[in-house]
Amino acid sequence: MLVNGERIWSRIEELGKIGITPEGGISRFAFSPEDKLAITKCIAWMREAGLKVRMDSVGNIYGRREGKENGPVVLTGSHLDTVINGGKFDGAAGVVAAIETLQVIEEQRIHTRLPIEIVIFVNEEGSRFSGGMMGSLAVTGCLAEDFPYKIKDNSGTLLAYEMKKYGAQPEYLNKARRKPGELKVFYELHIEQGNVLDDKNIPVGIVTGIAGPHQMKLKLFGRSGHAGGMLMKGRRDPLIAAAKIIQEVERASIEASEATRGTVGNVVVYPGGHNIIPGVVELTLDFRDININSRNQVVERVKKYIYKVCEERGLTHELIDTQNVEPIVINDIIIDLIDKAAKDSNITTIKLPSGAAHDAMIMSRLCPIGMIFVRSRGGLSHCPEEYTTKEDLAMGTQVLLNVLIKSADEVPNYGFF
Ligand code: GLV
Ligand code: MN
Ligand code: MN
Repeated sequence: MLVNGERIWSRIEELGKIGITPEGGISRFAFSPEDKLAITKCIAWMREAGLKVRMDSVGNIYGRREGKENGPVVLTGSHLDTVINGGKFDGAAGVVAAIETLQVIEEQRIHTRLPIEIVIFVNEEGSRFSGGMMGSLAVTGCLAEDFPYKIKDNSGTLLAYEMKKYGAQPEYLNKARRKPGELKVFYELHIEQGNVLDDKNIPVGIVTGIAGPHQMKLKLFGRSGHAGGMLMKGRRDPLIAAAKIIQEVERASIEASEATRGTVGNVVVYPGGHNIIPGVVELTLDFRDININSRNQVVERVKKYIYKVCEERGLTHELIDTQNVEPIVINDIIIDLIDKAAKDSNITTIKLPSGAAHDAMIMSRLCPIGMIFVRSRGGLSHCPEEYTTKEDLAMGTQVLLNVLIKSADEVPNYGFF
């Protein structure tokens, strides 16, 4: 193996110290001082790997290694921001792996035909400023130009303000766009975040498709009142409706198919006093499936149920989309390339779909994409227990290195699917 497993591990550990929470996880939100510190470290490592580094207008970081020819770029990377109290591998694994591959290429004095670039996408999780996958949306020209001026965090801070502090240029989002044809292919290494690989005892997976998330924010408006004074009969309590809706989300998703996911991840109750009947409840809805029809049917079923419950209980509601992305299928040419790259190093793989969303899903609008998964212990992710072994990370990174060199040397373009 050419990649250095110890170096990968020590960098994961180092990044894992930035944004640590009292609960033992990591909260490293996009555009925060912690995020800035993490990119600063990565920039230093990229320079060590001989890369030319820049930040684009949305806040993505690129590191570039020139090729013998000035043709389309072979791109690889992931993100460094985390969910609230998340783990140290989601995103960081793909960034550290990308840097490692280019450091090996530098050390081994490998000169590829085409340039290779690393990207650290900004705000993939949308933990503080909602939406997510913001960096890749800007690169593909799919982010509304006024987005930074519309989105605020929970304390009312405007996204554009934080972006400027970070060094980005929210007023010139367009400059972050990459043109069709500019990128030959994008590869993202990521932890699986599910238990397929762990259950089968396989270190590395080749992703065949990515489930598209449809995420919404639901507000239920009822009537507040005294918890002791008001009779049970005739109450218009939106939290009871929320409880019924949450159960319907689970029921509808289970009944749809094994590949369907439905989650309510956050519920906020207003005004939130133990002796006050709630007046307003806000909840997030998250539906995913590799099959769009199945996902859409579940969304329709839950929407009908929301109307029914609101009607029965004298409530009004507001439902807005925060994200709606179609699932994608990864092209066989790319899957075969990754398969061959793994076989070249005798690394065992299986093929599997991704239930989680990734920047690669958005990048597929601009160029062919491929994804390499590394095993997640117990399938756990988006929590402090998230864990991937040093050996698995090294194997995944070796596959990435092999496929990057192949893609950067090989003449045929993979077309745009
Ligand atoms: C990102 O982690 C997502 O799948 O929501
Ligand atoms: Mn994540
Ligand atoms: Mn991720």
